[in-house]
Amino acid sequence: MSIIQAIDLTKRFEDLVAVDHLNLSIDSGEIFGLLGPNGAGKTTTVLMLSTVIKPTSGTAVVGGHDVRKSPTDVRKLIGICFQEPKILWVSNPWDVLNWHAKVCGLSTQERKRRVKQVLEDVNMWDYRRKKVHGLSGGMKKRVEVAKVLIQRPKIAFIDEPTAQIDVVGKHKIWNMIRELRDEGSTIILATNELYEADRLSDRVGIMHKGKMLVCDTPKTLKDSIPGGDIIEIELEKEAGQSVLKELNDFEEVADLVSLKPNKLKVHLNRVEEIVPQIIEVFLRNGVPMRSIRMSEPSLDDVFVHYTGLTIEEAEQKSPSR
Ligand SMILES: Nc1ncnc2c1ncn2[C@@H]1O[C@H](COP(=O)(O)OP(=O)(O)O)[C@@H](O)[C@H]1O
Ligand SMILES: [Mg+2]
Repeated sequence: MSIIQAIDLTKRFEDLVAVDHLNLSIDSGEIFGLLGPNGAGKTTTVLMLSTVIKPTSGTAVVGGHDVRKSPTDVRKLIGICFQEPKILWVSNPWDVLNWHAKVCGLSTQERKRRVKQVLEDVNMWDYRRKKVHGLSGGMKKRVEVAKVLIQRPKIAFIDEPTAQIDVVGKHKIWNMIRELRDEGSTIILATNELYEADRLSDRVGIMHKGKMLVCDTPKTLKDSIPGGDIIEIELEKEAGQSVLKELNDFEEVADLVSLKPNKLKVHLNRVEEIVPQIIEVFLRNGVPMRSIRMSEPSLDDVFVHYTGLTIEEAEQKSPSR
C-alpha cells in the first residue's frame, strides 16, 4: 500500500528546475532509495515531501495528508535526518538527542535508555559531552542519524546517512536503518552511493536532472539491461563451432565474444539461472573448463544504461546543478 505519492511534484529555483514533474509512489514499510548524482534533485525532493520547503507546483500526499494543505499533519508522522545536520552547535550530542527525544514525547526513563543505547550504537557514547561544533563532519552526521533512530517515526527521511563515515560505521548504520524498517517505519533514503542504494533499498528510483528515470527493485533494474551479465570462460582447448552455436542459441545470450581460441566472454541475462546449462554444454561436448567467472551488472551499469553517463561523469557535467 502506498504511503507516499508525489504528483507532478516540481520545484524551481529561479531558472533552474531542481525537481521536474516528479511522480512517485512509495509503499508502506519499504526502504525506498532515491539514487542520483549530486545535483539530481534528491534533497529538494526530500525537503518537499517532509514539508520543509513548498513545491512550486504539483504536490505530494504523505501518510494520507497533502503536503500543501495539511503540512502539520504530515509533520506528526515523519522524522528527518538532514543532509546538512541541523543541530545546535553550542550543545553536545547527549543534550541534542535528549532534547529531541523529549520533543518526540518519550518519558524521562525511556529517553535515558534510548539516548544511551543509540549513542552507543552510532559509536558516539564517548563523545556525548563534547561540544557539537568541535566534532568532525562524520561525527555530526552520526548525531543527525541518531535523531531518527531515537524517534522511530512512521516515515523516516534519511538524506546521505553515511557521507564522511568510515566503512565499519557505514555497515552499522545500514543495519540500524534496516532494523527501523523491520519495526515498521517506511524509509526514504537519498544517496549518491550506488553500493549503499543497492545494499539497503527494497526499491530504487534513479534521479537525474530533476527527473525520475526509472524505479524498481535493484535486481529488476539490473536485469533490465540487455546482456548486462557477463561470464568469462577459459577452456582446456578450443571450443568448436557447434559448441558456440549451442551457446548462441540460448535466448538469454545477447552476445558471444572469443577473446582467444580457448577463452570466451558471454554477455547475457539472468546469469544465475542459466549458468548450469552453459556448463552442461561444455561437459556434454567434451570440452573441459579451466575457469569460469561471472559478474552481474551494478546499479552503476543501470545508470549508464539510462543516461549514457557514469554517476561521476553526470556530476562533472552538471556545473549549474
Ligand atoms: N535553495 C536553493 N536555491 C537555489 N538552488 C538550489 C537550492 N537548493 C538546491 N538548489 C539546486 O537544485 C539542484 C538540486 O539540488 P539538490 O536537491 O540538493 O540535489 P541532490 O540532493 O540530488 O544533490 C542543484 O542544482 C542545486 O544547486
Ligand atoms: Mg542532496
